[in-house]
Amino acid sequence: MTATLTNLDLKKLDDAHHLHPFTDFKELSAAGGSRLITKGEGSWIWDSEGNRILDAMAGLWCVNVGYGRKELADAAYRQMMELGFYNAFFKTTTPPAAELSAKLAEITPDGLSKVFFANSGSEANDTIVRMVRHYWNLKGKPTKKAFISRVHGYHGTTMASTSLGGMPVMHSQGDLPLSGFHHVMPPYTYELANGMDPEAFGRLAARAVEQKILELGAENVGAFIGEPIQGAGGVLIPPDSYWPEIQRICAEHDVLLIADEVICGFGRLGQWFGSQRYGIKPDFMTLAKGITSGYVPLSAVMVGDRVAETLIEEGGEFYHGFTYSGHPVACAVALANIAVIEREGLVDRARDDIGPYLRGRLEEELADHPIVGEIRSEGLIGAIEIVKDKRTRERFPGDGKVGLVARDHCFRNNVILRGIRDSLVFSPPLTLSHEEADEMARLARRSLDETARDLGVL
Ligand SMILES: Cc1ncc(COP(=O)(O)O)c(C=O)c1O
Repeated sequence: MTATLTNLDLKKLDDAHHLHPFTDFKELSAAGGSRLITKGEGSWIWDSEGNRILDAMAGLWCVNVGYGRKELADAAYRQMMELGFYNAFFKTTTPPAAELSAKLAEITPDGLSKVFFANSGSEANDTIVRMVRHYWNLKGKPTKKAFISRVHGYHGTTMASTSLGGMPVMHSQGDLPLSGFHHVMPPYTYELANGMDPEAFGRLAARAVEQKILELGAENVGAFIGEPIQGAGGVLIPPDSYWPEIQRICAEHDVLLIADEVICGFGRLGQWFGSQRYGIKPDFMTLAKGITSGYVPLSAVMVGDRVAETLIEEGGEFYHGFTYSGHPVACAVALANIAVIEREGLVDRARDDIGPYLRGRLEEELADHPIVGEIRSEGLIGAIEIVKDKRTRERFPGDGKVGLVARDHCFRNNVILRGIRDSLVFSPPLTLSHEEADEMARLARRSLDETARDLGVL
């Protein structure tokens, strides 16, 4: 970084030149541009004004081991000095790429023993779309090309991964989804169960996938993709009955099952992977984010044995890959990151200690809050539903924007939670301490009090 630039200079440069992701460019500029984030340590980040902010979103659901880990920086430095880059195209590999492949095969569930590297969750899901289409062609079933996913699903922003996602606003730009991508109801119990027993509702939501398969014809359906818990769609936690039913449906109709573990993987649900939490046996698993705790970009596609065998035995050359597939520095950081998660027992900690503790503290602070309809969580991911009427679950008017009002109050109170429609969601580092969980619950309470006042409730 150029030492002579002041923070104000940097903000001006950013405003002049940087087009931010998922941002209304004009609105951001009119509001004075971006907040400059300058430092991170543990669960905290700092901005250029010197504010210390509790990051209850772990960046974008990714900084699982917390900020400022020297082990990860050392691993990157050592690898950059040893071999800063080499590709995996020329019948070549590098020590970190080889070691990480084996490590991922070891820690992911049985039946996933091959890995294809990419740089982002979007690219990994794009890779899976290509593999699924190639696989069914090789199997002599070229019509099996349709993909089924859920409304409120999020799978990234390339053309194919946006099409996989179930976000109408994203589809509204650029004529998406592409043809052959279909969406069914999500297992969003709070919003959709209508008083039904949750387990019965879970089976009902799963059967929406079966209905879609029957409507399209199983001979035309290649794969179903789902996040074990839908993250960016609002942390939709399925009833335990949901995934076993999905598994049965996919097996019965010979539809490949893709578990998008970009958020759920690497300990967030209190298991290494969400698939273990819900007993999913996927044909593909998408990994990103927590694989390096976000310190450097890396993603991976875990390929299940039956698909891998076909691609290897019958597929010939697979004409796909990225310059940085298996980047040695990213792989070295991933190995160091996984070593931290193992050494500090962060997966068990999310399940047995800090996950339940945080949930308890949020319930103590918020269960009786007049605009809180539900607090739900699993491990260290969760959501707070905001409603006008706790009993009837009636929402506030305003088109599902109340989450953003609450989010803005959180920001002003120096805690980061994310607003999604009429909810606040959280996904803190797995290293969150009890004191930090106390602070998070207290600041969430204050922010929701302020939101309620804005809405004329308090
Ligand atoms: C479940 C899921 N899949 C895929 C993606 C896309 O990942 P990326 O932003 O790295 O392309 C995300 C990002 O939030 C995600 O949450």
